[in-house]
Amino acid sequence: MKKEMREWQKVASVEDITADQPLEVIVEDTIVILLKVGDAVKAYQGLCPHQFARLSLGSISKGSLHCPHHKASFDIHDGTCGPGWQLPALREYHVRVEAGMVSLAHPLAVISGHD
Ligand code: FES
Repeated sequence: MKKEMREWQKVASVEDITADQPLEVIVEDTIVILLKVGDAVKAYQGLCPHQFARLSLGSISKGSLHCPHHKASFDIHDGTCGPGWQLPALREYHVRVEAGMVSLAHPLAVISGHD
């Protein structure tokens, strides 16, 4: 069996994440948001790719995260931009949940999107 070499940094408790708003954490000077997607937790870039609004101030409804500034939306399942906008998908980071704690890879590791 291949041994996991990645290191992980605890950043939040799962209980801290609500269903209707992202939770912002700052790791290595990078703003990251944590979202609940069903029983899973996703980690995305915390600044909107349009004009860098803090997405933690946005809201989540019907499977989309809505930017607080100009209301672009992003699918919470994969970070892709919703209709009416041509923005890149949100950068997604590796995240792990264990014993109710959310950890991000250390150093941060991108699953998809620009590093
Ligand atoms: S800053 Fe997010 S839509 Fe403009």
